[in-house]
Amino acid sequence: MSAPRWPYPRVVAHRGGGTLAPENTLGALRLGASMGFGGVEFDVMLAGDGTPVLIHDETLERTTSGKGGVPAKTYAEIGSLDAGAWHSDRFRGERVPTFVAAAGVCRELGLWPNVEIKPAKGFESQTGRAVARLALDLWRDAALPPVLSSFSVEALAVAQEAAPSLPRGMLVSRIPPDWEARMRKLGCVALHCNYRDLTEPLCAEIHAAGYAILCWTVNDPRDAGRLFGWGVDCVVTDRLDLIGPDFHS
Ligand code: G3P
Ligand code: MG
Repeated sequence: MSAPRWPYPRVVAHRGGGTLAPENTLGALRLGASMGFGGVEFDVMLAGDGTPVLIHDETLERTTSGKGGVPAKTYAEIGSLDAGAWHSDRFRGERVPTFVAAAGVCRELGLWPNVEIKPAKGFESQTGRAVARLALDLWRDAALPPVLSSFSVEALAVAQEAAPSLPRGMLVSRIPPDWEARMRKLGCVALHCNYRDLTEPLCAEIHAAGYAILCWTVNDPRDAGRLFGWGVDCVVTDRLDLIGPDFHS
């Protein structure tokens, strides 16, 4: 029997808990799990001292009490900031977690992760290497390995070299005409695309070539229904309250 194309959860909580919790925090991972989600997506970037941390922007202003660039600060500095108050009082005191801490919570709660490698500009190779090596080690005994994805071709290529056994997804905002050649070169198993850019014929073409399809960020149940109807393998959502973990069935 051949291996399933997408043996991972089919509905994935974006940045941990979507809009219901401060993104990329341990509180977000716990919220997603408490709502029954088995899959989470989060973003990993290197702090200035090389520590991989969960954060989306390369500046601190939007999601923390700090200021300035992530690569300009050590983890000791970043980890002391508040990363929850911007969202709501309930999450005041949340911190920017390390990738290691997030992996611990994933293991504790049985969460499978899509680890998005999110390098700050100029740190593509370092980030791809560090995140892939650490992911390999942190999930070495896991039944389901994490899927590594990135918009950065350089980060994905380095991740492939550093941890060839970990599956990779090619993240794109627009599906390029040469998607197949690019995915082959990077040894990717899945295309992680903006759902707005996918059509039913293209979905069939990608599947026929043997690749899985993950769509982000799908927040309307009507869109999720249409995409699953086309055979899309996974949707990433901010609306955990509208598109639950069993939505597809
Ligand atoms: O991995 C899917 C999605 O997270 C990509 O976009 O900007 O939310 O990291 P972004
Ligand atoms: Mg992301």
